[in-house]
Amino acid sequence: PSLQSYSTFGLSASCDSIELFTDVSSFLSIYNSIKNRTDNAIYILGGGSNSIFTNDFDGTVLVNEIKGISHFDTESHHFLRVGAGENWHDFVTLCMNEKWYGFENLALIPGSVGACPIQNIGAYGVEVNTLIEKVECVFLKTGEQVVLSNEDCQFGYRDSVIKHELANKVLITHVNFKLPKHYELETSYGELAALSEPTPEKIYSKVIEIRKSKLPDPAELGNAGSFFKNPVVSQAVYQGIAQEYDSVPHFVVSGSTELSSIENEQIKIPAAWLIDQAGFKGKTLNKVRCHPTQPLVLTNLGGATGSDVITMAKDIIASVHEKFGIQLEPEVRLLGNKGLISL
Ligand code: FAD
Ligand code: EPU
Repeated sequence: PSLQSYSTFGLSASCDSIELFTDVSSFLSIYNSIKNRTDNAIYILGGGSNSIFTNDFDGTVLVNEIKGISHFDTESHHFLRVGAGENWHDFVTLCMNEKWYGFENLALIPGSVGACPIQNIGAYGVEVNTLIEKVECVFLKTGEQVVLSNEDCQFGYRDSVIKHELANKVLITHVNFKLPKHYELETSYGELAALSEPTPEKIYSKVIEIRKSKLPDPAELGNAGSFFKNPVVSQAVYQGIAQEYDSVPHFVVSGSTELSSIENEQIKIPAAWLIDQAGFKGKTLNKVRCHPTQPLVLTNLGGATGSDVITMAKDIIASVHEKFGIQLEPEVRLLGNKGLISL
């Protein structure tokens, strides 16, 4: 079967079989029936908005359709337990309608609730780890259930334990959120700062408006959002670039815990700016384009192949490295015949 409609980048690729599951026991019975076939790889998929199949996949793709949302509240918090197969933006919209606030900055991010902890989705000054209480998983090999506390998840920028020690070892079945009833709205990022008398509803609408103006809609133009992560560099590397480009945009990420001197600061430089400076903004290579309003996004103009995507990505990495000495890393998951590949 074709995987084209299962990945928002929309490359033409197929796999041995696609299996949808709606609960843990059906997942485990499918998984157990294929796990001993050594030639058969397995890939768990949510909305496919961070996964690019660059080639036919020699294996089974298991699509998470575990649904269900439950809620209770206390004097201070709302608590939500959400099936991993729920759609993220639909869930955020439901919460807004119910006035269970906190997700407003994270509106319109594609994909499933189950994928949100994996790369700790973030946008407009908020990362989802600030709202996650715990993540329910099952170990693939044993079917044993495990609950990861927020701390267990080891969240970072676009990062969690599920990308490291637990990579390819667990299925996320439910995500539990804990939303404080009293909190400060986050309006420091970019265009949100211009909102007068901000409310969660205003932020939600503004975030949707900004995203629609910058990011291509995957329903119209295949893409997987940011293709690369924003690099975090040392103060020395940043200073080197700033000497030549005094307008380089940057954000201070953290100082050293021991020495709070400026030399120890880590600086995040937008990859969009680096790619723009390297001359790729709006550039097309075969059927892949570097998006004109957000060069961090690569798009499929229709009929792109996996090798078109890889060629463009490698060109960008090489040019940015040559110009700035910075190595860009993919933010997306790239898949080849046997599973995840690196560039
Ligand atoms: P998939 O691509 O289906 O899966 C992603 C990874 O998670 C894969 O490795 C998969 O194997 C694994 N996985 C999925 N579900 C499970 C599960 N239940 N158990 C175990 N493993 C699982 N991201 C941001 O952080 N911020 C943004 O602002 C943002 N904007 C985007 C804009 C656009 C237009 C697009 C297309 C993407 C954007 N993204 C953004 C990226 C994407 O939305 C997120 O990474 C999202 O969390 C992916 O969800 P998914 O269900 O589609 O993931
Ligand atoms: N920029 C340019 N040229 C451009 C566009 C942008 O130089 O043509 C520079 C500008 O300086 C701008 C900066 O890039 O200020 C940052 O751009 P933007 O605010 O659009 O955000 P980003 O850093 O490129 C990140 C996330 C997005 C998230 C936005 C909003 C990563 C890898 N990407 O992008 O996430 O939506 O911030 O918070 O961290 C995704 O992960 O798929 C994604 C879209």
